[in-house]
Amino acid sequence: MTEQVILDAAATLAAGGLVAFPTETVYGLGADAENPAAVASIYAAKGRPNDHPVIVHVAPGADLDYWVSDIPAEARQLVAAFWPGPLTLILKRHAHIPDAVSGGQDTVGLRCPSHPVAMALLSAFKGGKGGVAAPSANKFGNVSPTTAQHVRDEFGPDAGIAVLDGGSSQVGIESTILDLSRLATHGPVLLRPGHISAAQIAAVIGAMPVAPDASAPRASGTLESHYAPKAPVALVATAQLDALLNALAGKGRRVALIHYSPLLTRACATHVLPEDPAGYAHGIYAALRAMDRTQAELILVEAPPQDDNWLGVNDRLRRAAHGSAGIVERFLQA
Ligand code: TXA
Ligand code: MG
Repeated sequence: MTEQVILDAAATLAAGGLVAFPTETVYGLGADAENPAAVASIYAAKGRPNDHPVIVHVAPGADLDYWVSDIPAEARQLVAAFWPGPLTLILKRHAHIPDAVSGGQDTVGLRCPSHPVAMALLSAFKGGKGGVAAPSANKFGNVSPTTAQHVRDEFGPDAGIAVLDGGSSQVGIESTILDLSRLATHGPVLLRPGHISAAQIAAVIGAMPVAPDASAPRASGTLESHYAPKAPVALVATAQLDALLNALAGKGRRVALIHYSPLLTRACATHVLPEDPAGYAHGIYAALRAMDRTQAELILVEAPPQDDNWLGVNDRLRRAAHGSAGIVERFLQA
């Protein structure tokens, strides 16, 4: 990608336009975080409720004090350890941050992505002093995009959204979100698990992040049903897969299978993912999209192990399958 392409994209943002850009987690749909009309056009393009807050992406070395009103030492430690990288921090915001970004809450979500194209764009935009509000570049509730083609598939050519192509996103699932805005009363709260684990965070700040309670802030990425393809998704234990695939085939069902164990091939379409959490995370969204394109009536996913290393992957798979509870039983009865 040439420097001119980056400068043009930065100019589009400065003029209030939308730019889809790669990050190391997933592709984002960006707008100037300080331009409420531009941020509103993200919500319109995504079909997303406009009371949901959106992450502000900043350039390496950005001035946190510009965005955040009181910065706990823990935030500075985590920034030093993990930025640029896939960690979003929720912090108390300054009053000048538009409501369109914060969803009307008194906090702002900040993240400095490590993808070279994202860093170049953020450094070019307003001389590295701006913020780019960017949710994942997909329609609300859909699987997040991990390639430029996924973004084009989501919005189509008529949406007029410029897409910077930075190849396939390395991490593959969205950033870890840590709420530090209520440290004194709630401690550090893990709103969304991701590539940077709770244990890695604890090693830096000396306190283990806790799960959100009912008072935690709203986050669309934490809705029970999210990240879902159009076909229903069911998670199945390895030991049950063989028998289930046979039974569904016996009913004439078109089933696609995403698996990591070898020799499971009795489906109309299959997609194999690596049996390590990082490799699996990198490929899972592309796999869900590919299986959705096969016209399968059902996507079976071999359930990954339940240990902590798989927390981010299992969180996204559970949400992808949430709306499909009971589907396998219905298919077997029909
Ligand atoms: O990896 C990522 O985080 C990607 C890339 C593009 O950076 N972005 C992403 O954005 O996943 P989105 O909007 O799809 O998910 C961001 C989540 C949402 O659940 C949103 O509600 C939450 O972050 N969030 C943003 N600001 C927040 C705030 N101030 N308080 C609580 N949650 C917030
Ligand atoms: Mg999203």
